[in-house]
Amino acid sequence: VSVTANYLHKAKAKDFSLYNIGEPKDTRAAAPVKDELKALGSSARYVRIPIGKNTLDPIIISSQKVVDLVYDPKSGKLFHTVWASDFRPWQDRDRSKPYITPKSGMLPPKLARIMVNLALGTNPNQTVLDPFCGTGTVLMEALLMGASVVGSDISPDHVEGTQINIGWLKARHSNLKDSIVITSDAVHLSKQISTQVDVVVTEPFLGPPNPGRAAATNIAKGLDKLYLGALKDWSKFLKPGAKVVMVFPHFKFGKNSVPTGRFIDRRENLGYNLVRQDLFFTRFKEGITRQIVILEKN
Ligand SMILES: C[S@@+](CC[C@H](N)C(=O)[O-])C[C@H]1O[C@@H](n2cnc3c(N)ncnc32)[C@H](O)[C@@H]1O
Repeated sequence: VSVTANYLHKAKAKDFSLYNIGEPKDTRAAAPVKDELKALGSSARYVRIPIGKNTLDPIIISSQKVVDLVYDPKSGKLFHTVWASDFRPWQDRDRSKPYITPKSGMLPPKLARIMVNLALGTNPNQTVLDPFCGTGTVLMEALLMGASVVGSDISPDHVEGTQINIGWLKARHSNLKDSIVITSDAVHLSKQISTQVDVVVTEPFLGPPNPGRAAATNIAKGLDKLYLGALKDWSKFLKPGAKVVMVFPHFKFGKNSVPTGRFIDRRENLGYNLVRQDLFFTRFKEGITRQIVILEKN
């Protein structure tokens, strides 16, 4: 109790939360700590975990600056939450951007950001291309990381939508770099690309939503043909060592799934080296798993 009270006093806590690990509803530790704090001249308030929740809302921790403490009786250690993710800007980019098309798939901005980071590494000073840009999710995350972006899509509506979304983002963030968005088939993009591209980050066309099991194998074959054609075309303008971070869908049917991208194993013909293919992203109830594959132009 004294260690906790002293810690809170030193931290100049105005609000604090305190519970034993795994017992967010047990508030017994709060009263003696508050008494000690009072003796130290502090009137910090105790913030309870809301009913039905296991932790404080991250927004309360970050915006109200609550000192959120968790005690582990087994080890005798006291833990302080030092950072909590503010999900609101992520949710905003996911749901409140002006152009949204549920039909063309919904790449979560956090996954787009992960893919951008895998491609850029520690150098944001690069140009990111998304040749299947859809609503511009990848391009927006790349811009926020400080990259320049080039986007293209076969659908003029999506090209216009991406431009509108990027305009929306630029109105909210100053100093974002340049963006170009054009209409093009990803398989013939080399004919239109005049800007230097450093990396490709893309979630390509995933086929019709929820294909039946019977159709899935043929759909996967068709998609592989598209992906192979596109990768071959991009190798015409990518520099040696340029990274491609790309989603390959696997269609899920219970415990089984129909994958795409099997051709990657014949990569000696592809013009790319395989960097990794061990990252998978699955969302509850969604009919596809996204495999994130990283290739490098050889
Ligand atoms: C799954 S969506 C990408 C969604 C995007 N990641 C987003 O978050 O909005 C695939 C996109 O590929 C486009 N597309 C389909 N076939 C294409 C092709 N051959 N070349 C270029 N774009 C294509 C579709 O118009 C669609 O916008």
